[in-house]
Amino acid sequence: MSVLIKGGRVVTASDDYVADVFVDGERVTLLGESLDQDADRVIDARGKLVLPGCVDPHTHLDMPFGGTVTIDDVESGQTAAAFGGTTCHVDFCIQGKGQSFADALADWHAKADGKQVIDMGYHIAVTDLSAEGALEELAALPEQGVTSYKLFMAYKGALMVDDETLFRTMEVAARTGALVMVHAENGDAIDVLVKEALAAGHTEPRWHALTRPPETEGEATNRAIQLAHVAGAPLYVVHVSCKEAVEPIATARDKGWDVWGETCTQYFFVDYTFLERPDFEGAKFVYTPPPRDKANQDVLWAAVRTDVLSAISTDHCAFNWDGQKTLGRDDFSKIPNGGPGIENRLQMIHSFGVRNGRISLNRMVELLATNPAKLFGLYPRKGTIAVGSDADIVIFDPEKRVTISAADHHSRIDYNLYEGTEVVGSPEIVLLRGNVLVDDGDLVASPGIGRYVARAKFGHELTGAGRVAA
Ligand code: URP
Ligand code: ZN
Ligand code: ZN
Repeated sequence: MSVLIKGGRVVTASDDYVADVFVDGERVTLLGESLDQDADRVIDARGKLVLPGCVDPHTHLDMPFGGTVTIDDVESGQTAAAFGGTTCHVDFCIQGKGQSFADALADWHAKADGKQVIDMGYHIAVTDLSAEGALEELAALPEQGVTSYKLFMAYKGALMVDDETLFRTMEVAARTGALVMVHAENGDAIDVLVKEALAAGHTEPRWHALTRPPETEGEATNRAIQLAHVAGAPLYVVHVSCKEAVEPIATARDKGWDVWGETCTQYFFVDYTFLERPDFEGAKFVYTPPPRDKANQDVLWAAVRTDVLSAISTDHCAFNWDGQKTLGRDDFSKIPNGGPGIENRLQMIHSFGVRNGRISLNRMVELLATNPAKLFGLYPRKGTIAVGSDADIVIFDPEKRVTISAADHHSRIDYNLYEGTEVVGSPEIVLLRGNVLVDDGDLVASPGIGRYVARAKFGHELTGAGRVAA
């Protein structure tokens, strides 16, 4: 299959020019003016942006959590991603307590097999290093293409690890070429605050935020940064939501430490007051860290503009309101934590980041595609448009007006965080390795087309066909 994309405005993290893009098989093979190659399909992209497929470094599909399982499995979540212009994501394989990493990975691969619509990799979420040989097994994972270790510093009694586990994992990462990722909140302090709130009779959704104050995120962020520095490991702080966490990241980066941070789309748009919506509507916005005071939104825009924060993910972790969020109707601590968003990241950041003048188009591409690909060992196969890169390409209509709604999104979830928001700019055609996935509102490829990607070690590039495992 060959595709010729004619006359579009090609935007990467560093360039912005009108050109033709020729795709032969799975890769981009030519970029230039007025190409006249014969092609199986010619796409007229005049007036459109030609963007690299976006890379979402933080998602949760088919994940058991909070007494239930996310409503999106690999097929529905990746279908939603494809419609939103995301062609690759890195999901979390969560180690069960006492489980070997090999068994955990086998379980998570089984959830994806035959269902994949886009390409994907796994971070390994470490929950337990007590088994004999666990450290050695962890150390071997980067050689197998699992090149990031995730640790939860919150969710006491569930996913949370102690500082010994955190620090030992960092030491392993320092010698194996893995990137350490942290969910940075002080889980012990939060656990006390939750118990106190419930004892005082506070059960409504807003108490989710009131028992997770920004200082608990700031403290854990700084603790992780200092410990990673002692261990000599590179660190990536996920879902940064507030000034208290931005500041220690900025300080560390000023000092030249190997620290990066990510925020998520929702933190720019949803604030604490959403949790106060009546009739248990507030539960739709119970995710962690919680929506913060609105003043933090400007802090986050400044941080992504100035590279204090280097990526925007979705943390897509979808639970229906009806039947899943309602598990916590009488107790906010039983509301499964997580929100949707895998489909709307590019639309929202383009509309309110680029069109409102907060970030440039190049920076948008860098935050949504190039930096996630670089940090997680996918670049330059993913995250850019260049000769030799995978032909993961979004033909984006910058003027198309869309009103976001659960009525026509592609996730299975029964609500949308951005319900009723009008965006300007939306993906029109989405290609994965030269295959058309989405064509003007229709999914035209079948599940199974997506592949698992074995990622390069931190700081290394992913090149050559050999590294993609079918
Ligand atoms: O509330 C959230 N974010 N749920 C997903 C798990 C996590 O903490 O990322
Ligand atoms: Zn988290
Ligand atoms: Zn998450």
